[in-house]
Amino acid sequence: MVTWLDEKMGGSVHVSVSTTGPVATPVASSAPTGASLADFQNAILTVISERTGYPVDLIELDLDLEADLSIDSIKRAEVAGEVAQRLELAVEGDESELEDLVKARTVRAMVTWLDEKLNGAVTATATLTASASIAAPAETTAAATLAAPEPAEAGVGVGIAPKRLVAQESVRTEPVGDPATVLAGTRFLITGGGAIGAYLAELLGEYGASGQLGVLDSEQAGQGFDGVLVLDGLTNLDEPLLPDVFPLLQRALATGPRWLMAAGARDATGAADGMPGLFRTIAREYPQLTARFVQVDPAAAPEVLALQLLDEVLTTSDAPVVARRGDHRYVADLVPVELGALAAGGAGPAGDGVAEAAAIGLEPDSVIVLIGGARGITPWFARTLASASRCRIELVGRTPLPEGPEDPALASAGDKSALVAALARQGLRNPAEIDRTAQRILAAREVNATIAELTELGGEVRYHSLDVRDTAATRHLLARIHSEYGRIDGLVYAAGIIEDKLIAEKDPASFTRVFDTKVDGARGLLTALDELATKPRFVVFFGSIAAAYGNRGQADYAAANDALDTIGTRYAARTGVRCVTVHWGPWAPGAGHGGMVTAELSREYARRGIGLIDPEEGALALLRELAWADATVTSVVYTASGW
Ligand SMILES: NC(=O)c1ccc[n+]([C@@H]2O[C@H](COP(=O)([O-])OP(=O)(O)OC[C@H]3O[C@@H](n4cnc5c(N)ncnc54)[C@H](OP(=O)(O)O)[C@@H]3O)[C@@H](O)[C@H]2O)c1
Repeated sequence: MVTWLDEKMGGSVHVSVSTTGPVATPVASSAPTGASLADFQNAILTVISERTGYPVDLIELDLDLEADLSIDSIKRAEVAGEVAQRLELAVEGDESELEDLVKARTVRAMVTWLDEKLNGAVTATATLTASASIAAPAETTAAATLAAPEPAEAGVGVGIAPKRLVAQESVRTEPVGDPATVLAGTRFLITGGGAIGAYLAELLGEYGASGQLGVLDSEQAGQGFDGVLVLDGLTNLDEPLLPDVFPLLQRALATGPRWLMAAGARDATGAADGMPGLFRTIAREYPQLTARFVQVDPAAAPEVLALQLLDEVLTTSDAPVVARRGDHRYVADLVPVELGALAAGGAGPAGDGVAEAAAIGLEPDSVIVLIGGARGITPWFARTLASASRCRIELVGRTPLPEGPEDPALASAGDKSALVAALARQGLRNPAEIDRTAQRILAAREVNATIAELTELGGEVRYHSLDVRDTAATRHLLARIHSEYGRIDGLVYAAGIIEDKLIAEKDPASFTRVFDTKVDGARGLLTALDELATKPRFVVFFGSIAAAYGNRGQADYAAANDALDTIGTRYAARTGVRCVTVHWGPWAPGAGHGGMVTAELSREYARRGIGLIDPEEGALALLRELAWADATVTSVVYTASGW
């Protein structure tokens, strides 16, 4: 799991286990500690219980830590680190020592690993019984003395103002290998592309390679080719490749090819939506592979396109996304572009956003709909809008609001672990059910808090519980709001989910869930807007830096956010409505509205020197973008740090 985390973050993860503990020795399988299974088990259960609120007796040995107790990979890394600290183990200089402990998905697996590692046991699971499971930490042996529990760090990162980056293309010439040398004896599978694919297969044949024409849904990709070239995006222009092409790419990657390429026409049609973001992530997860998405002009002659694609196969380049136009090859880089003096100083009283709201045309009667606006980072933007213009705010999210006040016995439980403990005290015994209940209560609290904060700012605010994937319900809601007020001035689409896993381990159904929540949601909303009598002044999509740079473990999320970009660009071109996708870097979890960057992830970013966006600065940056930026810019990155 450390490796996974390491890979996901794109560098080396250090599991800090020796900062406060007594003098430590390296983990060594050859040096038995004398600690028993019960000692290991108690250390693990105690740490998990302290961090999650579950009483020790509810944490069964075979529960899935992630699925049943919501202990994700980053939390598991912290649990493993703390367990190692309490057992006085150190992994200084060799974090891989703890890798398998972090990978372990159950308490039993963690105990087994520790016993095998420290005592050289080979049959630990056989001797691990319930009788060993609930001894109090105080009864453990001296050899594996459990250090006193350290209070968990607050872990909330401090944010800074983000920088604005915009993609700028430039001509890029890179070394092209000799075709006869590079291609001799290689085998390629070419899917789709019609005449282009046929020409390409011929060209490959001329240089001693074989180009086999196949189909997208075939199992052929798994047969083991040197290269897989997906050209379906060039012929089925109205048929989106994603999410359906993902399993094919996954199968192809599993066979260890040297090349994986796809071609399409960015922006022009929906066929390639998300492919560049996906390829940026593939390139990060498979650094040995030539992974590239090639944007071409689909109107060019098939022979020309085939030659361009052959050229890409032969070109040595790290760029996962290139564009071919005419005789040139272009690569886009993200470069800092400031908004100018007006935005930097603020045209009105510094920093309050009033001048920006006026420049956007917002007034108290304006209506802004924020999908995903009641929880996470988006309430910060809703607050900025409300305080700058007193406009009407319509919030949308799935969380249902309970009727009546919260159970007083739970109301004093202020955070997730306190709530979990309180629910367990009330008699709930099933951890998964406790987890769901706690999450539901916390979500409803956050929605209520957002409504209260916005109301206090003086504007009208309403909340609608709705799943944006239900396109009929979404259309109905927008139509209802529009008919009530005669206008929708702005739409902010910030709904999204993450289910991070490396491509090799990703369940295609999970890819589809993450992708469709963003992409189907966005497409449905734009269709709903088309049906209204008036157009909005602006549409904002919340994207992610993962789309702009790729991110290990986030193939689906990177693809989805990249797709928003092209969907928005086409919408802007078609309607003339200002539409911008903001690819955010990570935000610091602000008080009350944390978002996807949890306290654990925030600590991890801090350890790795990754800066976080201050929530108020982030919200103001977006308002300035809408007020002062060149309206033709449809995609922008705001980040506090490089990636
Ligand atoms: N936080 C960051 O640092 C960061 C960085 C880059 C990009 N972003 C982007 O910013 C947006 C917000 O992120 P966040 O950190 O605030 O995440 P979050 O806390 O998970 O919030 C996601 C929001 O979307 C709503 N939502 C999710 N699925 C929905 C659905 N099917 N229908 C309706 N609403 C749905 C959620 O409300 P319910 O659960 O009530 O439905 C919630 O309000 C996301 O699009 C994310 O990709 C965030």
